[in-house]
Amino acid sequence: MNHLSVNHLTGIRNLTENDLNLIFQAATEFKEVINRPIKKVPSLRDFTVANLFFENSTRTRLSFELAEKRLSADIVNFTAGNSSVKKGETLTDTVNNILAMKVDMVVMRHPHPGAPQFLANKINTSVINAGDGTHEHPTQALLDAFSLKQRHGDLAGMNVAIVGDIRHSRVAISNILCLKKLGANVRVCGPKTLIPKHIATMGVEVSHNLDATLQWCDVANMLRIQMERQDKSVPYFPSLREYATEFGLNKQRLGALSKPITIMHPGPINRGVEITSDAADSEHSIVLEQVENGVAVRMAVLYLLAMKR
Ligand code: CP
Repeated sequence: MNHLSVNHLTGIRNLTENDLNLIFQAATEFKEVINRPIKKVPSLRDFTVANLFFENSTRTRLSFELAEKRLSADIVNFTAGNSSVKKGETLTDTVNNILAMKVDMVVMRHPHPGAPQFLANKINTSVINAGDGTHEHPTQALLDAFSLKQRHGDLAGMNVAIVGDIRHSRVAISNILCLKKLGANVRVCGPKTLIPKHIATMGVEVSHNLDATLQWCDVANMLRIQMERQDKSVPYFPSLREYATEFGLNKQRLGALSKPITIMHPGPINRGVEITSDAADSEHSIVLEQVENGVAVRMAVLYLLAMKR
């Protein structure tokens, strides 16, 4: 099939293997486009996308906006902080008002898990989840997998470690779902308090030993501690210094490995906590490739969903 099986992108769990391949194929073509002197194509001309951000973002918001512009779409941007949400307007009312202005697609980030799906159930317009609470961040997982495929080819059989605050991470959940669909072996690593007990049911290994995990993996995806989502009354680890000692990636740890590994991070990075600068900026880090590929992957998702309308 040459079209997506879904009308919305609310999570990786709803995508088929064919959907993933279609997105990667389109992203490969769009990556070529955005590296040309003229980076724009008319694919979404006369198409209007609303970017609704109810939570802070740098990479995802800019990346979607750039992807939409490269596809020649018209754009409206909404951030909750300076909107009538502050006056008590509901999510449904906010979105219905925006849709009344004839918007064709909605990109949405929201602190509450399920908010994009709630919206998708209520409106005819396609909804793309740009991160919903601790639930999913599908385009991050797609760009991560695409970046790995560009570096390493087929991901089947590859050992990928996801390290850090798994409990509060939508990136971890979407990455696990995506990597498993592509046949990779996935191990999560972090303190017991930051790894949910049910995670093994997703078909991943669990480790609390970073050095052993680094020896096992081909790729380490380092996640930040999501302080903003943690219950402040319950300390999950004694101190940031202790966390960095046990679970932080640094040049010393990398130097002790028998082979080089690929280093990933979705950003924003807390340098000196989950990763030191010498590791984040090393020759094996693909952090900025992830950001570049984010535009191509989001162009692919926008284009393929628009083709279904
Ligand atoms: N990776 C990511 O979602 O970053 P932002 O929160 O800056 O969008």
